[in-house]
Amino acid sequence: MAKSIQSIRGFADILPDRTPIWRFVENGIREVLDAYGYEEIRLPYLEQTELFARSIGEVTDIVEKEMYSFEDRNGESLSLRPEGTAGCVRAGIQHGLLHNRQPRLWYSGAMFRYERPQKGRYRQFHQIGAEVFGLPGPDIDAEMILMTARMLRAIGLDDAELQLNTLGTPESRAAYRERLVAYLNAHRQQLDDDSLRRLETNPLRVLDSKNPEMRSLIAEAPSLLDHLDVESRDHFEAVKATLDVCGVTYVVNPRLVRGLDYYTRTVFEWVSDRLGAQGTVCAGGRYDALVEQIGGRPTPAIGFAVGLERLVTLVEESGAGLAPAPPDAYVVAIGETAQTAALGLAERLRDALPGLRLLVNSGGGSAKSQFKRADRSGAPLALVLAEEELATDTVTVKDLRGESEQRRVGRTALPQLLRDQLQR
Ligand code: HAM
Repeated sequence: MAKSIQSIRGFADILPDRTPIWRFVENGIREVLDAYGYEEIRLPYLEQTELFARSIGEVTDIVEKEMYSFEDRNGESLSLRPEGTAGCVRAGIQHGLLHNRQPRLWYSGAMFRYERPQKGRYRQFHQIGAEVFGLPGPDIDAEMILMTARMLRAIGLDDAELQLNTLGTPESRAAYRERLVAYLNAHRQQLDDDSLRRLETNPLRVLDSKNPEMRSLIAEAPSLLDHLDVESRDHFEAVKATLDVCGVTYVVNPRLVRGLDYYTRTVFEWVSDRLGAQGTVCAGGRYDALVEQIGGRPTPAIGFAVGLERLVTLVEESGAGLAPAPPDAYVVAIGETAQTAALGLAERLRDALPGLRLLVNSGGGSAKSQFKRADRSGAPLALVLAEEELATDTVTVKDLRGESEQRRVGRTALPQLLRDQLQR
């Protein structure tokens, strides 16, 4: 036997026993997006590497070491998208979607990051993300957060914590950065290697360190909230006030800095304590400078993305059993001519009863083996076509789960009988 080939590390197959939960989560989130007037946009998986370097930031973990980048046959550097915001902004600029309009867009699909795989962290993972352009006020920040709260409720998750912070404007952040660098330099001997590196490249990310030995140093660090410009402070207060009025609880986490460089002002994350270290299920924020940074006119914007693997795991762990739906009926066809007749019958039934799930036996077999397959399929009914049924234009309907007697019915009467039996 030839050596079997395995999937790539960090790239998971999602098998049929789990896809019903995936669909439940995806549909639940899409319905909420519809309810808030968002429109779907579909974006490519591959973009020029420069797009991500210019938006996410040259010195972020993602761009420095996590992208799947390669040169195509023309020598152009391309990357699999590690996230959706950059591509969405690029598309918005390229197609003129951002001029004199305030589009509310959403997208979904796979993203790729070369991270160390562990529970809740994969190299191919799936997001549903949303971006709104052209609206500078705090009302859209608050509405977006309310929408994410509704999404989590829609899929039965009500124990995640909402963390909020504001990163101010690029100017106020630059001033704060200087203060922070001075503080960290004064405590250099307490910094771990990772933080020393971040101190040189992206000092705000030191605040994000997960090393417990750094905790007290970080707790004592100057807080960005104390260095905010007045507009950013007012903006943040207005976001919080709306959330208060709408009854959404949150904690302000001044250490929430996010791993992508494009954020300004409001940032937020929904964090679950049921996923270990990878607890963030939804994350986003405002990025008022990004559109201009990648070649558009100055346009305020805000967005977020949910991580579908993490949401699916939480729904699964909360015990919501969603079994794959069995067929409504299994068509048993005994004899060669019956096989063709069975396919024709199934087509007519699907025409007559939209949504009907029919599984037609394929590959022949004795009556016994076909009934065994019918039983294994989970279908409640078998529709039997054999010589006698063919000769009389009838079908035998057999109850596979209950006690009812089997019945022979005319083919024209079958749709009505199925409708009654399946309560459609
Ligand atoms: P992010 O925080 O990098 O933000 O990712 C958003 C969410 O995607 C995370 O909270 C997590 O649930 C999920 N996620 C990220 N990496 C992985 C991974 N390796 N495995 C499994 N799940 C993962 C963004 O991507 C921004 N584009 C969000 C945004 C949109 N900000 C503004 N607009």
